[in-house]
Amino acid sequence: MNSRTNELEKNAEVISSLESIAAQAVEDFLVDPRHCWQPTDFLPDMSREDVLEQLVLLRKRTDAIPAEVISSLVGNMITEEALPNYLSFFNLLKGMNDEGNMASEKGWVRWSRAWTAEENRHGDLLNKYLYLSGRADMKQVEITIHNLIGNGFDSKAEQDPYQAMIYTSFQERATKIAHVNTGKLADKAGDDVLSRICKTIAGDEARHEKAYKSFMSKIFEIDPDGALLAFEKMMKKQITMPAFLMDHEKKDSLFSRFSLITQKMGIYTTSDYASIITHLTGLWKVGSFTGLKDYAVRAQEYLGTLAERYHRIAERVTVPGLICPAWVRE
Ligand SMILES: [Fe+2]
Ligand SMILES: [Fe+2]
Repeated sequence: MNSRTNELEKNAEVISSLESIAAQAVEDFLVDPRHCWQPTDFLPDMSREDVLEQLVLLRKRTDAIPAEVISSLVGNMITEEALPNYLSFFNLLKGMNDEGNMASEKGWVRWSRAWTAEENRHGDLLNKYLYLSGRADMKQVEITIHNLIGNGFDSKAEQDPYQAMIYTSFQERATKIAHVNTGKLADKAGDDVLSRICKTIAGDEARHEKAYKSFMSKIFEIDPDGALLAFEKMMKKQITMPAFLMDHEKKDSLFSRFSLITQKMGIYTTSDYASIITHLTGLWKVGSFTGLKDYAVRAQEYLGTLAERYHRIAERVTVPGLICPAWVRE
């Protein structure tokens, strides 16, 4: 058996030992469907007689939103819509669902279902809102979602549950930031409903982020050497947004246009990336562990200066003045 297999087995064992924590997290961090918001809470009620007036109002509100914001919103929505990939990703991690039973009542499998069930509302709501606004080229949007689900998802966690917990902690915080900033821009453009939608979704992401960070805190407590190694590995590969396989174009890909637009609009930037590293290394007190194995000391050193390096990169990032917004109806 090689060392990678050993490491993966050890990490899977630790994760399996946290089944009861995962089950409790469903109660503590997720909302019972009976009390949870649903997309229709924010959308025109199609059964009402004045629905056409409601639609006119919605279109008036969305009219002044800059094309770049619509484009970012579509990118965020497409990311949310690739949900089947996330549920599969989670259940394929070592130690999460070794029986391969998606209906299992075990803690992690239940968590994965309840978490993605919450996520499902995000894509539904944004998709319907954008459709009604008439601002997006929905056929192109649908083709991109089709491609993204078809192409799959690679978190680069390599089935390692530790790296996956780092990835999801990071990613939930990143999506929270993107939704908050999109909401601010929607508000600025005069769409208070869209602003509320973005803030509400961001609120969900904040709960998810808290949960994933707490899972990882537990791993740091049990196995600091392994946790530091996983953190180092994941960050060396870099956290890539889950939707990066939305197309396979080498040049001017939809994903690169989307990323440049979010950078340009201040929706999700290199500086945010750096700040997330600062936040996570601080929260998990990366620098505080002593008595570590050599490889963990090296990981600790690498992680200790990582945020600073990204903050320096962020200062040098430039965005081309002209980026053609994707998925927007001209
Ligand atoms: Fe989400
Ligand atoms: Fe989330």
